[in-house]
Amino acid sequence: MIYFNKKTLEYHLSNGKISYIFRVMEATGIMEQLYFGAAIDNYDSYDFLIERESKPGNNQIEGSQITNLDDIKQEMPVYGTTDFRQPAVEIVYPSGDRISHFAYDRHVISQGKAPIKGLPSTFGKAEDVEVLSIFLKDRYSDLEIELRYAMYQAFPVITRQNVIRNAGEQSHQLETFLSLNLDLPNENYDWLHLHGAWAREAQLSRDHLAVGIQQIGSTRGASSHMHNPFISLCPPETTETQGKAYSFSLIYSGNFLAQVQLDTYDIARVQLGINPFQFSWELAQNGSFTTPEAVMVYSQEGLNGMSQTYHEFYQAHLINQKWVHQTRPVLINNWEATYFDFDEEKILNIAKKAKDLGIDLFVLDDGWFGTRDTDNGSLGNWAPDLRKLPNGISGLATKIVDLGLKFGLWFEPEMVSVDTPLFAEHPDWRIGNPDKHISHGRNQFVLDFSRPEVVENIFEQIDKVLSQAPISYIKWDMNRYISEGYSTALAAKNQGELCHRYILGVYDLYEKILEKYPDLLIESCAGGGGRFDPALLYYAPQAWASDDTDAVERLKIQYGTSMVYPLSAIGSHVSEVPNHQVGRLTPLKTRANVAMLGTFGYELDITNFSDEESAEIRQQIATFKGYQDLIHSGLFYRLKSPFEGNECAWMVVAKDQTEALVGWYQVLAKPNPAYQRIRLAGLNPDKNYRIESISEERKGKDLMSIGLLLGENFLGRPENEQGRPMPGDFNSRLFYLSEKI
Ligand code: DGJ
Repeated sequence: MIYFNKKTLEYHLSNGKISYIFRVMEATGIMEQLYFGAAIDNYDSYDFLIERESKPGNNQIEGSQITNLDDIKQEMPVYGTTDFRQPAVEIVYPSGDRISHFAYDRHVISQGKAPIKGLPSTFGKAEDVEVLSIFLKDRYSDLEIELRYAMYQAFPVITRQNVIRNAGEQSHQLETFLSLNLDLPNENYDWLHLHGAWAREAQLSRDHLAVGIQQIGSTRGASSHMHNPFISLCPPETTETQGKAYSFSLIYSGNFLAQVQLDTYDIARVQLGINPFQFSWELAQNGSFTTPEAVMVYSQEGLNGMSQTYHEFYQAHLINQKWVHQTRPVLINNWEATYFDFDEEKILNIAKKAKDLGIDLFVLDDGWFGTRDTDNGSLGNWAPDLRKLPNGISGLATKIVDLGLKFGLWFEPEMVSVDTPLFAEHPDWRIGNPDKHISHGRNQFVLDFSRPEVVENIFEQIDKVLSQAPISYIKWDMNRYISEGYSTALAAKNQGELCHRYILGVYDLYEKILEKYPDLLIESCAGGGGRFDPALLYYAPQAWASDDTDAVERLKIQYGTSMVYPLSAIGSHVSEVPNHQVGRLTPLKTRANVAMLGTFGYELDITNFSDEESAEIRQQIATFKGYQDLIHSGLFYRLKSPFEGNECAWMVVAKDQTEALVGWYQVLAKPNPAYQRIRLAGLNPDKNYRIESISEERKGKDLMSIGLLLGENFLGRPENEQGRPMPGDFNSRLFYLSEKI
């Protein structure tokens, strides 16, 4: 998959689906980018891709009289070379200058890719992935950069990751070190990204790319509710099913930057990596720094094609394989049913009813530890509250397991409240400068996870709980951002390292827990989707997508989240009405029809449900379990965007095209409506499908061209003679299709 032409010093990475080509420039040794896109043939030379014309300007490339680096596409642009665009690496040298020149030295090609300890990254066997490492040496120091490219056999994907090493005696200060730089010739592109806030994550934005810098990112210490570490560039004509898209996703949970600088030569410089804002890293003698991994996807099948690539790729090469192939439990979480107000009896009543309804896992949320009756204390004191739970967690968990359910527990490991023994003993373990104001967030403070002793303390506390009770699931929450970043353990010159060291501490705790409890299912959460990123999926195969559980809001949140993340990762529950976030009253059926296209579970007080409601829930769970394998392992297609109108539709098709599940949702009812159809996707055109809920049979190609007719067919249905049923607002329907042989 990786071809190197010794004579021309050109590299061609290709797996028959995509090609990525770059070369070593003459005279300078700088790596010049030549092409990224649909696969092209192997040629003896790619000089036809080298663009050089005499351009006015007085900053020439070394050894050339005609042009400058400002309009040359590069792999690792730096300051100090006549390229004035944003650099991908910036180093402060001992002299105080920032002038670098990284030139080609050698390369190494290897097969297979092992996970990197402590830094979530993709992995693959020797037959799945080939890795190219290009080593660049700095002309002015003993610094060396490794550009690492992984080419996966089965996907239109290349991953990028960079390492910098200091073999010299002097320290250097790394100010910027991005994971990816791609200089893409513009084709009137749009740029897409996901933005939001608490309770309205993953809202889809698509805007025309303008000259100048367009940027999203986080400076909050977490990938954040506000922006997801993902962007995509595509021409205006690209739709869900057609057209090309260049997409970029970063496997990182901390401060990130994703930006496109469209320059005045119509080159879109795409950059992704750790946000340089307040980042700085001391590269001491023998020191090194590894960036997070970035994943570039090229799709020729529109945005659906892009998303399916991310879904399939992350399931095959990022998410723990143990969970990819295991049926996930349908869970019930007590948060919206009880908040902090519960005792053992109340919990057991919910659990008993849950068992009766067919639920697999009971999750005890916030409020079980210390003396936490409100959200103003006890974080960091992970000892059970014996007032609420006289038999502790082990007693409660054992009773729940005896009922035939699994037991799960909530933690918020990274936080501390001031009323805890932990804070009394170690006030300096809180992030912030003790001589300056330190803001609380939800009455809590962030623990300094850049310090290994802090991570160890929290590990020991969690370990104590896990080792004494039959716990098979953890919900790992994180409810505030880092506001006044400062560590009392770091020297003044190293303060810029805090946020990255913090997130490495988070990864370290995940690894410690999973090393000791490899069968534990972890669901990540950060006040909903505040840290819904690929890196956490590496440890926690599912993530709570949003604290907003309203079925209508969830259409947008789950639709947006599906741009990058597979349905098996999208935590989704049926919750109470009136909904606790927006006050909306949606039917139980629609709440379930939305939540089923995710991990599926419940988060409401089921104990006082009527027989009729209980029967409905029992039926929903049985329905979900019947479709679960299809939903979690099939290919997902978005059919109608909730961002564009009153309706939403999506579907999942089995990889062998033998079955499919379609979800259709209408927000507000319309009087005297027009007839409606949804055009399906991904079916086998020549197969006949039986549509279960309407007992009809249709050819795949007809369902994809004519569509599924949504109106009730009145002919021959005497019970409907008088008119149409009036389902009201927030209506939805699921259609199960199976191949008719
Ligand atoms: C925020 C989470 O997103 C909720 O689901 C719940 O766990 C609360 N925190 C508990 O404090």
